Amino acid sequence: MFTVAIDGPAAAGKGTLSKRVAAHFGFAHLDTGLIYRATGARVLGGEDPVAAARTLRVEDLARDDLRTTEVAQAASKCAAIPEVRAALVEFQCSFARREEGAVLDGRDIGTVICPEAEVKLFVTASDEIRAERRYLELSGKGQDVTRQGVLEDLRVRDQRDREREAAPLKPAEDAVLIDTSEMDIEAAVAVAIKAVAAVFEG
Ligand code: CDP
Repeated sequence: MFTVAIDGPAAAGKGTLSKRVAAHFGFAHLDTGLIYRATGARVLGGEDPVAAARTLRVEDLARDDLRTTEVAQAASKCAAIPEVRAALVEFQCSFARREEGAVLDGRDIGTVICPEAEVKLFVTASDEIRAERRYLELSGKGQDVTRQGVLEDLRVRDQRDREREAAPLKPAEDAVLIDTSEMDIEAAVAVAIKAVAAVFEG
């Protein structure tokens, strides 16, 4: 059992780093943001947030409409509700304990979900750079977004995620900070793999 916790603000590159780290070490990967997005999507469909979180199904995570700014905002609103977070803890914890090793990425993995994780990374980049990367990602998928709209979404969510009472976004005390503002993806992946290897391979 070996757990890597990767946290950071919106669109910091956690998803790409997590997938690459997981593939490199043969660990499973859980994008915990997807759980909150799936809850948010059901709330946009008219359900109560707590009821939606309590009845979340694996197939909800496979919906193809989760990567929109509208769903991201709904996710971040749901994520501030303690009962929603509580309903989603067990799934995340049992995933983290799997035998082959696991990488979980989110906002509170190193602080709340897996405080005992062997490696904790906190990934950041400047607001403008994160917004530019997310703008390219969403517009590349054909979504009708603007740079300003994407920047606004990230800032509003980050502020809500940092200021909430329940499991706020912040680095664990023992997290390795990785600022990817000046790094391309390969450089960031190399730094993350090195940090994990230092512990995993002793
Ligand atoms: O992909 P991006 O970084 O923009 O967002 P995400 O990781 O998919 O997360 C969407 C929202 O879910 C965040 O803005 C948080 O409010 C919430 N979230 C959370 O509260 N805790 C987590 N462990 C993961 C996501």
